[in-house]
Parts: sequence; C-alpha cells; structure tokens
Amino acid sequence: MRVDAKLIKSGLVALGVLAGVAGAQAAMNKDDIAERLAPVGEVCLASEDCGNASASAATDASADSADSGGSAGGESIYNNVCSACHETGAAGAPIRGEEDAWAARTDQGFDTLLSHAINGYNGMPAKGGNPSLSDDDMHTAVTYMVEPVMDVPDDE
Ligand code: HEC
Repeated sequence: MRVDAKLIKSGLVALGVLAGVAGAQAAMNKDDIAERLAPVGEVCLASEDCGNASASAATDASADSADSGGSAGGESIYNNVCSACHETGAAGAPIRGEEDAWAARTDQGFDTLLSHAINGYNGMPAKGGNPSLSDDDMHTAVTYMVEPVMDVPDDE
C-alpha cells in the first residue's frame, strides 16, 4: 500500500467570532451634579441688594467717596468687557492700577484716553470690542479704569 502525496493543499479558514458587547449605562443623578456646580460667588453691584449686607454694614458709607463716586456702573462694565485684557495685560493692555504702565498714557490727559478707548487705538479695540456701549458708558468705564492712577477730571 503506497501513499503518494503529490500535492498538499493548505487552507486557512477564518472563523468569525461574534462578540456580544453589553453596554453598561451609568445612571447619574443630574440634579445632584448641577447643585454641586452652582457658582460659589456672584458679582454684586453696589446698587443691588445681594443679601450679604452684614459684610459691608461695618464700613462707614460716607468714608470712601473717591472710590464710590458713581462708578458702580464703570466697575461692572470693566469687569464684563475690559478686564479680559486690562486685568491680565493681554495683548499688551496696560493693567488697571499699575502706575508704570499708565504714566505715559495719563500724561495725554483724560480726554485723549477716553477718545482712544471709544475709537480704538492699536491693540485697543473700539469700545473694548463691544459696540453696544454708549460713549457715556465708556466715560464711566475709563473713569473706573484710570482712577487709581490719575485724577479724573470732574466734568459732569
Ligand atoms: C481685546 C483686549 C482689550 C479690551 C477688551 C479692552 N482693551 Fe483697552 N487696551 C487694550 C490694549 C492692547 C491697549 C494698549 C494700546 C496701545 O497703547 O497700543 C489698551 C489701551 C487702553 C487705554 C489707554 C489708551 C491710551 O491712549 O493709552 C484705555 C483708556 C483703555 N484701553 C480702555 C479700555 C476700556 C474702558 C475697555 C472696556 C470697555 C477696554 N479698554 C477693553 C486692549 C483691550
């Protein structure tokens, strides 16, 4: 008995394996999460009742007219629009309260500063990039911005 193996053929058989994947769904209580993410502090304007009067009740209301001289609006515009650059120095903006950064600028006089702020000046976008601000808003905001570094003329 003879076996002639003239040809050996190899065949590869691929077996497909089907894997069933069960997706696990994590049940999360979204209300709980939202509560934990609630803002810790909120901006509070001088003209608003922010529910924490006890914090400021100790301060003499008449003591600080230089700081409060009608600039609550200016502070809020500054915080909302200007602080992005003028609190950080972004784009080379002079930082509020830094005398060195402002010295040469305040020499120009308040009217020039105001007009640069309204119309734009190099990296300073007109009205801080917010065209909905009125010239009066800008006057208030510039007053708030420069009052730590110059005597703002009392022309209103
Ligand atoms: C996108 C950034 C940016 C924002 C927002 C911005 N500023 Fe400026 N601001 C600048 C830069 C940059 C300069 C410096 C420009 C220069 O001297 O070349 C400048 C300069 C100024 C100056 C000085 C101008 C001068 O003559 O030296 C005033 C005043 C000023 N900004 C007011 C404001 C007020 C008010 C707001 C908000 C309403 C505001 N800026 C928002 C970038 C910004």
